[in-house]
Amino acid sequence: MKTYIVGNWKMNFTVGESSLYLHKLLGKIHSYRDIEVVVAPSLMALQSLSLQTDRRKIKLACQNFYYKDFGAYTGEVSVAQLRSLVDYAIVGHSERRYIFNETDKDIKMKVASALRGGLTPILCVGETESERTFGETVDVIRDQLLGGLSDVAKEDVSKVIVAYEPVWAISGHGKPARVASPLDVADALKIIRNILKETFGPKIASETPLLFGGSVRSLNAESYLSIGDCNGLLIGGASLIAPEFTDIIEIAKRVKNDRNY
Ligand code: 13P
Repeated sequence: MKTYIVGNWKMNFTVGESSLYLHKLLGKIHSYRDIEVVVAPSLMALQSLSLQTDRRKIKLACQNFYYKDFGAYTGEVSVAQLRSLVDYAIVGHSERRYIFNETDKDIKMKVASALRGGLTPILCVGETESERTFGETVDVIRDQLLGGLSDVAKEDVSKVIVAYEPVWAISGHGKPARVASPLDVADALKIIRNILKETFGPKIASETPLLFGGSVRSLNAESYLSIGDCNGLLIGGASLIAPEFTDIIEIAKRVKNDRNY
């Protein structure tokens, strides 16, 4: 399975800045057969970046979309409108769940809509700090994971990438994030793998890519990428800094080579 390095730029960079930044990244990274590099710029920048990017090096993701194909939905953008611009779609990010009140129903509809339109959904799941304190982590992960996949045909489950992003480890929300230990991440990814196994069988479980996200930096990337169940990273803040992001890609390449020996 490939290793996925996904940069979520969130609501950062103007269209011009996005273009300059992508140009810089394209100049610094190589195309690797076993590393899939994806960036999710703002919706505004997708059109120009889709013309600019070299998809062998960097593919694009959208950060959000609406699950209907077309119609009277002011302010929304559909998969049909995004299909020629992006290959991936982030779905169920905690910032959308908790700041924009996205519901489980929205999320399952979006996962199904992305697949129907030929995009690979990156389904984010993860508990809040208080859910973790109250020992609800496994239940939250199970509900968000199986809820998000509930409209997906069994044979399509492994076309979904699942990203474990504990809300308490995500930076940029005011109070400093707590960095997740590799042990925490290994436990959570194992839980996700096991839920997939119990529900859909061992083959599908082993073929579904699992990512980790939350305060990933070049300094800690290797510790997460070395986890057996970890197939990649979803990176916020560090993906906005070219040397950080490109270092993480190099680390992913090195870890992948080491694993293949
Ligand atoms: P940070 O890497 O900035 O903590 O963000 C993680 C994230 O939310 C990626 O989707």
